[in-house]
Amino acid sequence: MKNVLVVGGGGREHAIVDALSRSAVVGKIYCAPGNAGIAAQAECVPIKDSDIEGLLSFAKEKGIDLTVVGPEVPLSAGITDSFTAAGLRVFGPSKAAARIEASKDFAKRLMAKYNVPTAAYKTFESYDEALEYVRGGRFPVVLKYDGLAAGKGVVIPETFEEAEATLKDMLLDDKFGKGRVVVEEFLTGPEFSLLSFVDGERVFPMVLSQDHKRAYEGDKGPNTGGMGAYTPLPFVTAEDEKYALEKIMKPVAAAMVAEGCPFKGVLYGGLMKTPDGIKVIEFNCRFGDPETEVVLPRLESDIYDVFSAIADGTPMPELKWSDSAVMGFVMASKGYPGSYEKGFAIEGLDKAAEDPDVRIYHMGTSLKDGKVCTSGGRVLMVLASAENLQAAHDKALAAVEKVNCANLFYRRDIGWRVL
Ligand code: AMP
Ligand code: GLY
Repeated sequence: MKNVLVVGGGGREHAIVDALSRSAVVGKIYCAPGNAGIAAQAECVPIKDSDIEGLLSFAKEKGIDLTVVGPEVPLSAGITDSFTAAGLRVFGPSKAAARIEASKDFAKRLMAKYNVPTAAYKTFESYDEALEYVRGGRFPVVLKYDGLAAGKGVVIPETFEEAEATLKDMLLDDKFGKGRVVVEEFLTGPEFSLLSFVDGERVFPMVLSQDHKRAYEGDKGPNTGGMGAYTPLPFVTAEDEKYALEKIMKPVAAAMVAEGCPFKGVLYGGLMKTPDGIKVIEFNCRFGDPETEVVLPRLESDIYDVFSAIADGTPMPELKWSDSAVMGFVMASKGYPGSYEKGFAIEGLDKAAEDPDVRIYHMGTSLKDGKVCTSGGRVLMVLASAENLQAAHDKALAAVEKVNCANLFYRRDIGWRVL
């Protein structure tokens, strides 16, 4: 039996741990740092996901067969390079390949060079030049901080005054850190996520999913890491899916090889179905969160074998997916994505999970005196599987309503586009 280490401590990692626990070959699962929910399925170890040295010595000491990295921060810091150099097997892209997420400018230049459809853009380092460019352009306009910002580095000002304030935050006051700004053309249409297992030029798509990025119902309010998700997507046709695979995901995988930074891991295509066809909004170098929480429950193949095939460059087992629909609601701390308080007790989790079609993945929880408490912005993802999206919606919502906590909010309209 194989020992596996999962790096990270959110809902995505809970879903990965859950999928690994269904594997026929996985014995012991460790998760660093994990959370209160993951602790029921894996041994949580108190090492931060950014502590690469600490994770490396732990993996050596425990004879870990495979390390699976969830978040972008350790990937962008080179965890895969360190593990590989030490002779350890790891699932996740190298630091050079992770630039596809860590630098918006890198991703945009790659797409321009290889003719991958995306919004027109220009990158700026100077506040004055960016401001002049925006003054002469159309609104709304899309302003993206050129670095990691936990899904919060994108602002879409409707007016020049708002754009001026945002550019000031990003370029003069370094509110997100020291970095440039990508100014992009505003596109319209439904967004969807195409997560794919990628090894060099080999691309194996997962089932499609959709995230809800805005904080409040009606897709209003600030951008968040994601407030809910579902799969499948009736509004994306088989033809669209083929286009996305052949004209976007495969050319980008080949481009990364051509640029000398082959991608190994999960390549996340954040795509939009615009009136002019499917275009790229962003790439991520990892499983999406909360998309993973709805996608992986549909995976029927052994995920350990899938991870191994990518990590080792060996033949990929057939990816089998269930026909069920899965929908999940994120429960977040009041105030998220701004500042929020932590440490509120959560009740009713057992009752909410009584329905066998319901799963609860923990995103930001910890144990305090034996009680599950809030410890993050996004706290729980409550999801249900059913024969169709409406039934999945109803079951998941019924479960969410059984969770009691003084400081959580959620959107009730997840899946509005398809219900
Ligand atoms: P990103 O982090 O790049 O995915 O951007 C966050 C969110 O901002 C996306 O999910 C979109 O809803 C929105 N967005 C980003 N780029 C564009 C664009 N060019 N046009 C319209 N909306 C965009
Ligand atoms: N759900 C968006 C992301 O994972 O970045």
